[in-house]
Amino acid sequence: MYLKHLSLENFRLITRLDMNMPRRLLLFVGGNAQGKTTILEAIYYLATFTNALSAADRQCINLLTAEQNPAVTRIQAQFEKDGKDHDIEVRLIMETVNGNTPRFRKEILMDGVKTKAHKAVGFFNAVIYLPQMARLLEGGPDERRRYLNFALTQSDAHYATHLSRYSKTLKQRNALLKRLQESGGNHTQLVYWDQLLVKHGSYLLQARFQAVKEIEKIAIQVHQKLTHGAETIQLKYQPALSDLNDEKVASLFAQEADSFQHDYQLLLEQKRVREIQRGMCLYGPHRDELLLFANGLDLSKYGSRGQIRTAILTLKLSEMLWLKQKTGSWPVLLLDEIYAELDAQRRDDLANYLLETDQTIITTTDTAQFSEEFLSATKICEVSQGVVKSR
Ligand SMILES: Nc1ncnc2c1ncn2[C@@H]1O[C@H](COP(=O)(O)OP(=O)(O)OP(=O)(O)O)[C@@H](O)[C@H]1O
Ligand SMILES: [Mg+2]
Repeated sequence: MYLKHLSLENFRLITRLDMNMPRRLLLFVGGNAQGKTTILEAIYYLATFTNALSAADRQCINLLTAEQNPAVTRIQAQFEKDGKDHDIEVRLIMETVNGNTPRFRKEILMDGVKTKAHKAVGFFNAVIYLPQMARLLEGGPDERRRYLNFALTQSDAHYATHLSRYSKTLKQRNALLKRLQESGGNHTQLVYWDQLLVKHGSYLLQARFQAVKEIEKIAIQVHQKLTHGAETIQLKYQPALSDLNDEKVASLFAQEADSFQHDYQLLLEQKRVREIQRGMCLYGPHRDELLLFANGLDLSKYGSRGQIRTAILTLKLSEMLWLKQKTGSWPVLLLDEIYAELDAQRRDDLANYLLETDQTIITTTDTAQFSEEFLSATKICEVSQGVVKSR
């Protein structure tokens, strides 16, 4: 799929942008703080309806607009997917009624029809690389769970619904565990929440486990190419659910959904006393970890800066190839300042992948990083103070 037209209103420093988007390669060039990353961030909103950097949505409303009531930010695009034209729009709205604290809401329109976020994800797909994404390996396990969630919500129509119901159930169950910890009481109240937790949690767990296996298969090949055979990458989904060894975990996850739910339920019952003692839900997809190894070494703990960058590029390219495999169409690839971080060999390797996609959008402060050949195949636009001009 690829964007044909992008229109922004009051998104961060960009008050108004209307541009036709070329297929294949597009390069945004400009100095620091001109709005390059902002454009990629806006496009990524159309795929996930949330901020790629986990910033608060309301931070994306232009600061001057935010003084108006209501304050409205719009991101809208026309795109082609499987030979058909579509339209997607996200509105971020902040409104103050009767002098109360401002209320924030998000509206999503799919081909003009208002739609809930969990139903609209997967309509338009994108994969984003931002330099800050070293956090994916250097940060805590929540960063890696986010990576899986973003990939899965875009490829699996049910994942987002289960994820949102799981989060709601978790909150309620945590509140109940806290009450039981502090004041005691009847444990049987947990049974209802356990059933819901198991229902949604097992969907997330099995989907993630399967996705990690599939992404790993792709990642091994991508990483071999990017490191010229020097490194073998491994991905491992490590559930907090059990203390079982890898083999047992694999057979547990490979079960039919019904028997998996049954085992999950049993494990929760075994851990009941411990969860009440701690007053919180200790087992489940919200506590799981995705581990990455290069030549057997855990990259989060032992990876060098360069190794981490390459592994993240591998993860992102694998996410893109995996989404293509699952959905049948290429996601739009968004690469922020990636060339500055790569040596000449890796740049050439990356270029080979980019030539395959339907559309890749790249930002840079300096076109000297690109080969003549690459630049001649690329549409170049300059970004200055939030305004885009074709070069
Ligand atoms: N809500 C907002 N309202 C107005 N301006 C904002 C808002 N949020 C961010 N900005 C401004 O937008 C600019 C950042 O733009 P952006 O990150 O897109 O720059 P960039 O071109 O990618 O720069 P760099 O090369 O440094 O990465 C900053 O000057 C920032 O202060
Ligand atoms: Mg930037």
